[in-house]
Amino acid sequence: MKKCLQNMIVKNKKVLLRVDYNVPIVNGKIIDDSKIKLTLDTIFYLLSENCKIILLSHLGKVRNNNDKLKYSLEPIASYLKSLLNKEDVYFSKENYGIDVINRVNSMLPGEILVLENTRFMDVPNKLESNCDAQLSEFWASLGDVFVNDAFGCAHRAHASNYGISKYLPSCIGFLMQKELGMLNRLVLHPIHPFTVIMGGAKIDSKLELMESLLPKCDHLLCGGGIANSCIKALGFNVGDSLATDDEKTLKKIQELLLKYKEKFVLPVDCVVGSTYDNSFAQYKLIDKVLDNDIILDIGTKTLQKYSNIIMNSETIFMNGTVGAYENIKFANGTKELLGLLKKSDSIVVVGGGDASSSVNNLGFANAFTYTSSGGGATLEYIAKEKLIALEPINEEETVEILDM
Ligand code: 3PG
Repeated sequence: MKKCLQNMIVKNKKVLLRVDYNVPIVNGKIIDDSKIKLTLDTIFYLLSENCKIILLSHLGKVRNNNDKLKYSLEPIASYLKSLLNKEDVYFSKENYGIDVINRVNSMLPGEILVLENTRFMDVPNKLESNCDAQLSEFWASLGDVFVNDAFGCAHRAHASNYGISKYLPSCIGFLMQKELGMLNRLVLHPIHPFTVIMGGAKIDSKLELMESLLPKCDHLLCGGGIANSCIKALGFNVGDSLATDDEKTLKKIQELLLKYKEKFVLPVDCVVGSTYDNSFAQYKLIDKVLDNDIILDIGTKTLQKYSNIIMNSETIFMNGTVGAYENIKFANGTKELLGLLKKSDSIVVVGGGDASSSVNNLGFANAFTYTSSGGGATLEYIAKEKLIALEPINEEETVEILDM
């Protein structure tokens, strides 16, 4: 494991804390604050150690000056201030230059200074995203130590995560430690039977993940566009459903289906919609799908088959949803599966953007062993067993296990 915060001397220090406060904001209102709340343990610990905290985060993708109007961190700094019920949480409109240096030099112990969105430095020259050395060094110069608690973007090598840790003594924060600890239970030593539920739209971006999980798991239950592509690779008609057209990908899927035929479990029935009628939803066996049909959910026979496997599993990882759950007509499969996961006694980890959102949107928040705060980072860690942003941080032998 990477060097952890509890093994780093931070007392009375200026701590640069990188968090992922890339939260959804609609009409100026934060509509999901979970990523902010998940960093509070780290913040409270640093405050208890009498630190000055300089907080860095990105928000959104900042490509031009208009994006800067949308993605200021100011509302997030105010939100953090009220969440912590703490007067001395301040916001700096600048994140680079002499004003920032002066502001940091005047900080008192226990104060928090939130710098403006790190991605503002992407306009015009992508300095943050291209991990510019001068920018990394500047940010590093503001603190005595660096704590990286931004799990959600740890698959990016940007100046504000990877870059800073090249120039400062660095460690991971409590959220990062928890996320890695939980994912290690899947990646390094899963308790068997280990079942993976893989859904979501596109298979192309998930082939690598699939390939890395297949040797480790006992069952791979497929849904969504992933299942459609597998069904297509087997020669069935998937109509107008979301499925890959790429010949190379289809060939790769065929190889995997053959090599791991004992592990793959595919839908035998489904609920289809239609290109021509928005209100149309019909149950079908998978070999009865017609040219105009769009497979949008798994059917009841599939659910039964998946249920038997889930109930006999010790570890389950759910990545992606098995249907277009945002539409109530096609939400049944995902909802029922989440209900089964909740009932099962196994270790259940949910990770990957749409799976984690479905958990919250369908009323299953806090129902599982762990719901990851990262999408891309979760997939990257499972596939590669490492995260680029953490590369410069030293490994250490002993780790105190945190309560999950
Ligand atoms: C996320 O929300 O997935 C992370 O913050 C990463 O965001 P990014 O894809 O814009 O780098």
